Amino acid sequence: MHFHGESATYHTSHPRKLMENIHPIFDHVLDRSSKEKLLNQKGCVLWLYGLSGAGKSTLATALEKQLHSEGIMTQLLDGDNIRTGLNKGLGFSDEDRLENIRRIAEVAKLFAHAGIVTITSFITPKQTLRAMAREIIGEDDFHEIFVTCSFETCEKRDVKGLYAKAKAGTIKHFTGRDSSFEPPDDAHPAALVLDTDKQSEEACLKELNAFTMARIKPTAKNQKLKAND
Ligand code: ADX
Repeated sequence: MHFHGESATYHTSHPRKLMENIHPIFDHVLDRSSKEKLLNQKGCVLWLYGLSGAGKSTLATALEKQLHSEGIMTQLLDGDNIRTGLNKGLGFSDEDRLENIRRIAEVAKLFAHAGIVTITSFITPKQTLRAMAREIIGEDDFHEIFVTCSFETCEKRDVKGLYAKAKAGTIKHFTGRDSSFEPPDDAHPAALVLDTDKQSEEACLKELNAFTMARIKPTAKNQKLKAND
């Protein structure tokens, strides 16, 4: 499988023959707008990314609970959970991370098209990976949220004890240590940046909630927002 940068011409190595007897029925299925109308919300994907320990999962789970209590239908996809199920067997080489993100993006897209506010929490360390997710999910539905803090803070927090193991050399390809992390830059900006070194969890959550609400509720203000996009 290959993914060639931002032109996003990734393709799997599956032989074309395998696709011969597949007949997608996209035009027969109940359409997205019927589902969004039922739920009175707009489906989307909130793609939280950043170093392990930066606070992605903490914010993602807190946001999901908050949205749920506000009557919003959500689905959370989280690194450690997905890697024990759908993506069991994938490791942390560049190729495996690409396949990990590709599958997650495809699943997230299905949820978004069902009108569900889909929150994902994956390191997604490279620009090319985020570009691929954006291409799969589609520009309109994909919201890139960078959850950041310094490597030193993550190492200090070390909630899962992985930074200590990486330091001792028992985990290879550890992001931020012997596998690189590319932060967003001017050419590839995030839609929202939450700095957990500087902002409290409560402050981050407030920003995240406001960001989300502005994109999922069909209010007059949002219509205006969309018209100005
Ligand atoms: S990604 O790079 O492919 O996006 P993903 O978010 O799915 O990574 O998985 C990251 C989680 O796997 C981390 O939060 C951590 O718990 C665990 N993990 C295990 N090995 C590594 C590693 N080498 N690098 C980063 N995270 C790892």
